[in-house]
Amino acid sequence: MNAKLSPGLVPDHAPGKLDAFWMPFTANRHFKANPRLLARAEGMHYWTPEGRQIIDGVAGLWCVNAGHGRREIAAAVAEQLNTMEYAPTFQMGHPLAFELASRLAELAPPGLDRVFFTNSGSESVDTALKIAIAYQRARGMGSKTRLIGREKGYHGVGFGGISVGGMVNNRKAFSAAMLPGVDHLPHTLDIEHNAFTRGLPHWGKHLANELERLIALHDAATIAAVIVEPISGSAGVILPPLGYLKRLREICDKNDILLIFDEVITGFGRTGKPFAAQTFDVTPDLMTTAKGLTNGAIPMGAVFAHRKVHDAFMQGPEQLVELFHGYTYSAHPAACAAALATLDIYAREDLLTRAAGVAPLWENALHALKGLPHVVDIRNFGLIGAVELEPRPGKPGTRAFEVFLKCFERGIMVRQTGEVIALSPPLIIEPAHITRIFEVLSEVIRETA
Ligand SMILES: Cc1ncc(COP(=O)(O)O)c(C=O)c1O
Repeated sequence: MNAKLSPGLVPDHAPGKLDAFWMPFTANRHFKANPRLLARAEGMHYWTPEGRQIIDGVAGLWCVNAGHGRREIAAAVAEQLNTMEYAPTFQMGHPLAFELASRLAELAPPGLDRVFFTNSGSESVDTALKIAIAYQRARGMGSKTRLIGREKGYHGVGFGGISVGGMVNNRKAFSAAMLPGVDHLPHTLDIEHNAFTRGLPHWGKHLANELERLIALHDAATIAAVIVEPISGSAGVILPPLGYLKRLREICDKNDILLIFDEVITGFGRTGKPFAAQTFDVTPDLMTTAKGLTNGAIPMGAVFAHRKVHDAFMQGPEQLVELFHGYTYSAHPAACAAALATLDIYAREDLLTRAAGVAPLWENALHALKGLPHVVDIRNFGLIGAVELEPRPGKPGTRAFEVFLKCFERGIMVRQTGEVIALSPPLIIEPAHITRIFEVLSEVIRETA
């Protein structure tokens, strides 16, 4: 399996050859001086061009939930491309789009059975925000335009997403171009009260009441929607305190405000049920997804809308467009084929509930890192894990970045964000992979001053 790859698969990384690709969310100069390249993948593993095997501890980027190299997905995409590579979905349709929407509606929390297709998490978020505002207008509540996000939230990189998002580095260069009328709830990360909690923190439900304070400040008549990630990934795995999401739901209901769950990372089995909304038993009005929808094989996102939201648009003359929004590649045939094949795998292998069974082993292995040098917190839920390290004085993020680099050298791919090492492996993970991931991570943390 780890035989060397054919020379054609080895990119030429002689000086200058990597310059043209302006890499996203990457320290470009650092990377190009010392590239980390991936050339092949199968199951739980990547291989570098030199043939070095790497355990994938992050499902690519929280998306390859069924593991790599799924031939069924590749075959379905190839067949679709050979049959019809593209069809528009503006005033036209193709069968797979309708089939996929119906299959997704069956998986969704109750009532969220109308599906709008996008091509990424960022597009799903901006779509959901637009639907929320247009919904309020469609039902005669045009003053409800304000959006409430949360500090440390990550909702992709569109202007809507960074406006409701709360990660300073993603916002500061664009502060003059943010959406107007946005406010933020406080985040729920509190190491002082909750350090090393296994699963959901017990302290912090009251932070949901901050929504009441924002309502008192702005008035419910101006607020269209609240958007939160049930579990934040990008800001370093931030969990909802017990009862927090239910409390947000109650306050939204009381004040006639839509609740949007951004399930781009929590969707498709990450928390032990198809969606975190089901795991936490809180049903939002809109739910954004992407990533695991196609197992990362083809870009695609989907926004699930409650039928009441959808139906509010279905009025007026029938020949008129109800929502002036959509993408050339909404429900792209190849993406639909990939998603349907992915859903088949999830169903056949019970992957959307598998994380619940593996979680106790995962949690024990992760929390065994407690007590290692510089480890200030460990957080977990389902097949998600985070180890927070103490920052080096005056050099934020460098310790965690070094841990990430050393893990990669030793055959484990983790994700670093700020001071956090985040883990979100493919849902097919076996105990031996868990043992190896934490063996290496523990060794590396011990060695990193
Ligand atoms: C919660 C959440 N929303 C939105 C996004 C953006 O998704 P994409 O990178 O596909 O645009 C992400 C990406 O990690 C995410 O974690």
